[in-house]
Amino acid sequence: MKKIAVLTSGGDAPGMNAAIRAVTRGALYHKVAVYGIERGFEGLINGEFQELEICSVSDTMQRGGTWLKTARSERFMTPEGFQRALDMLENFEIGGLVIIGGDGSFRGGLKLSKAGIKVVALPGTIDNDLTYTDYSIGFDTAVNTVLYAIGNIRDTSSSHERGTVIEVMGRHSGALALYAGLTGGAEIIVIPEEPVDINKVCRTLVEGKNRGKQHNIVICAEGAAINSSDLTKTIIERTGIDMRLVILGHIQRGGSPTARDRMLASRMGYKAVEILLQEGNASKAIGIKGEQIIAYDLEEALEVKRSYDKSIIELADIIS
Ligand code: F6P
Repeated sequence: MKKIAVLTSGGDAPGMNAAIRAVTRGALYHKVAVYGIERGFEGLINGEFQELEICSVSDTMQRGGTWLKTARSERFMTPEGFQRALDMLENFEIGGLVIIGGDGSFRGGLKLSKAGIKVVALPGTIDNDLTYTDYSIGFDTAVNTVLYAIGNIRDTSSSHERGTVIEVMGRHSGALALYAGLTGGAEIIVIPEEPVDINKVCRTLVEGKNRGKQHNIVICAEGAAINSSDLTKTIIERTGIDMRLVILGHIQRGGSPTARDRMLASRMGYKAVEILLQEGNASKAIGIKGEQIIAYDLEEALEVKRSYDKSIIELADIIS
């Protein structure tokens, strides 16, 4: 392995820069040349490669986003685009590719690996929806961003004795809603994986109000069966509680990564290099189980059925 490349793809996540840094410096430590590909698979097709030196990644670890830029590439899904991507890797004589992204990026990586490219995929998504790993890069920072927002909203909510529905990201995954909901003391957590029991939601809020609760925080994932706007209107209609809706949106995707995300990204990024340097062509997905950094077969990692930790929502029900 003489040359490797790294790209970030799909929605950005805090900690991606720390992962790029670890891949770059890890590769250079082992005397392997490393190229950064800008704009994910789109840049791969366009040949947007730049050779990285030690100082290319200086002063990047603490920054959110990805300095390599990212994109969601439609062209990569076409036979012509895909072939061009393969040609580019061959032109630049890239022996191994590190892909940092979410589910869609992993699937792109799998396609490349089936065409003979050695790929190592790192989970970089605030959604934490890749079930083979306990955590993905960016999730911890996003949870903390939501917690900060909940704190501010709770202050004004208490002053006005009203409730707030807070919509958090997560098209298919309730992980962010669950973690931020439990640790932020939300009264209700609504996630895509569970049907919404609107009667129970209203009952809980009314009981809380009757017990003298100053505020009511409802965390609703964007992909939940009921959308956050309808949920807010229904609560107002049925309970008479004064409610507001706050959609946090892309604020959750930015910000300086937490220590935990920097640690995860650094360990995973270096592990990716070690895997690429090993003999054999097997493509891998890097993850963490407990405190252990692990390498899964890429295809098997994608086959792990989606699940979520039901005990978190049960605990939130008990202690909120
Ligand atoms: O996959 C990460 C994610 O942040 C989702 O939670 C969200 O639904 C989506 O990306 C938003 O994507 P975009 O930035 O393209 O609107």
